[in-house]
Order: sequence, then structure tokens, then C-alpha cells
Amino acid sequence: MEQTLSIIKPDATKKMVIGKIIDRFETNGLRIAAIKKIQLSESDAKAFYSVHKERPFYNDLVKFMISAPVVVMVLEGQDAVKKNRDLMGATNPKEAQKGTIRADFAENIDANAVHGSDSLENAKNEIGFFFSKKEIC
Ligand code: CMP
Repeated sequence: MEQTLSIIKPDATKKMVIGKIIDRFETNGLRIAAIKKIQLSESDAKAFYSVHKERPFYNDLVKFMISAPVVVMVLEGQDAVKKNRDLMGATNPKEAQKGTIRADFAENIDANAVHGSDSLENAKNEIGFFFSKKEIC
């Protein structure tokens, strides 16, 4: 069993599609092992995405991530990292396959509905960023 971090981003929480997105995970065998809705601070968003701090889109990304609450989750299941990324679809919703979360709910590459860890190692770090051990069950 693997665990991965998922974030339902501000565009999706504002559109009230939290339940529809969670349904995609559960229907496809990813169990919600932890979940909370939070308002990120600027320093939270900067720290979480610090790997992108030299990229041209970093400031806009931070601004977007604090524009409304997000839902952070630990998803658990077989091949959870890859399964979550397959369900999300390509980062740019214009390139995402039909039926994926980003194709169905995202606006553009900045407001792209969901984030998912891109490796098992990053998943461990990202889960630790948001959750304590006792919150994951
Ligand atoms: P996410 O998977 O959350 O990781 C970083 C985010 O930066 C990404 O989704 C996009 O929403 C955003 N982003 C904006 N422009 C780009 C880009 N050119 N390449 C990758 N990510 C981008």
C-alpha cells in the first residue's frame, strides 16, 4: 500500500466540486486516510511549493493557492502515487485526457483543480508538511 498527498485547489473548492473530486478517488480504490479543509497562509504556500521558487509562475502560484481554502488529503491504495496522477490528468487541463479530474473540473494550468505528489519520496515529505501521524488513520 502507498500513500500520496492530494490537494483540492482554490478554483475547485470555490466551484463546490469537492465531493465530486473525492468521489473519483474513492470510486477508483483510493481510500481517504486523512482529510482537512484549510486556508493556507502565504508562508505555507511559499514553503509547500519552494521547489518551484525559481520558476516564472511561482508568485502567481502562491497567490492562487491562498485565494480560497483548499482541501488536503492523504490518499491510500495500491500504486497510490501513479493512480492519483492518472486520475488527475495532465498539469495543463487543455492536454488532460477526457474523463480526468483536470479535464472535467479545471480552468487552465494555474487553476488546475488538484495537486498530487509526483513521487513516493515527495509524497512522504508533502504528507508530513500537512499531517501529524495521529491524523492519518
Ligand atoms: P501542481 O501539480 O500543483 O504543481 C505546481 C503547479 O504550478 C502546477 O500544478 C500548476 O498549477 C502550476 N503551474 C503554472 N505554470 C506551470 C508550468 N508552466 N509548468 C508546471 N506547473 C505550472
